[in-house]
Amino acid sequence: MKNTIIICCLLLLAGCGKPTATQVYTTCDMTSIYSHTSFPVGVAVDAYKLQTNDQYRNIVIAQFNSLTGENAFKFESVEPAEGQYNWTETDYIADFARQYGKRLHGHTLVWHSQLPDWVPGYTGDWRSMLRDHITQEVGRYKDVIHSWDVVNEAFNEDGTLRSTLWLTHLGTGYIQMAFEDAHAANPQAKLFYNDYNLEWNPQKLDGVLRLLTQLRAAGVQVDGIGMQMHISSSYPDISLAGDAAKKIANTGFLVHFSELDVNMKEPDSRTLLSADEQQQQARRYAAVFTAYSQLSPAQQFGITLWGVSDADSWIVRGLPLLFDNNYTSKPAYCACKSLK
Ligand code: XIL
Repeated sequence: MKNTIIICCLLLLAGCGKPTATQVYTTCDMTSIYSHTSFPVGVAVDAYKLQTNDQYRNIVIAQFNSLTGENAFKFESVEPAEGQYNWTETDYIADFARQYGKRLHGHTLVWHSQLPDWVPGYTGDWRSMLRDHITQEVGRYKDVIHSWDVVNEAFNEDGTLRSTLWLTHLGTGYIQMAFEDAHAANPQAKLFYNDYNLEWNPQKLDGVLRLLTQLRAAGVQVDGIGMQMHISSSYPDISLAGDAAKKIANTGFLVHFSELDVNMKEPDSRTLLSADEQQQQARRYAAVFTAYSQLSPAQQFGITLWGVSDADSWIVRGLPLLFDNNYTSKPAYCACKSLK
């Protein structure tokens, strides 16, 4: 009897370590995430944190081989006054990418949000204003930024064009104009359209694909689509995101999971997830990386995490990233490295 109990306990314990549908992600080695994947793994970065926070900087250097500026390359940061550019942070990030040999993805040229105050009241020629902005920014980083989110979040959920300042002042052709200007400023660069909810809303995705396919047929260079992938612990079903990614790939565009985070919707002020929540989050990350790895390699641009640690995330109290507030790796980190 006693022996039977001991054997049962041993079997139970052994079962815990087995990689099954309920795999437990605990510890793993700290080699770079991208050495475990066949595609680049990137992170959104902030110039000030790279300069002032060693833990942050070291993780960026060690773990990722692609970078996106989280805010630095946006219109309000780059051109705070008309025709007056501020390149302090963008130059820092560009130099960092050159120094450490990281791929640098530009985010973003045309968006309705994070615009400087002067843009809404602008009374000059909007066509030249847009062209100048794109030409200056893309041209300056021609040697180091090989891909751009040219247009961000231009569609409504029903697949129609969002009403923005750009639409009002330039008409429906503004997306084409932006892609053409970016291409003229750096003919080598890969050019992306980037948006959220494409992972689960087919109406929105179809609207995007319809327009980009038309542009491509008209000879405009459009290379890929960024699916932001701000997802939560329960939504959407990752199979939906996988299907959407395949649809994009089958239409001939590169797929970038461009701003991945998994919001755990932390309801109180705890700064750590429970063990169960950690595992739940890890399973979501593993599912996302697995779905992405099933795309044809030629269509894989990479997966980018939207920040380094939970302390850096734009999501307040969502504890959505791979490192906790103390820059310690979470089970989610190991899950991203668990692809077979
Ligand atoms: C967010 C940044 O993470 C925040 O720091 C900033 O305050 C607001 O913008 N979609 C995008 C990103 O395309 O640029 C946004 O980034 C998040 C949503």
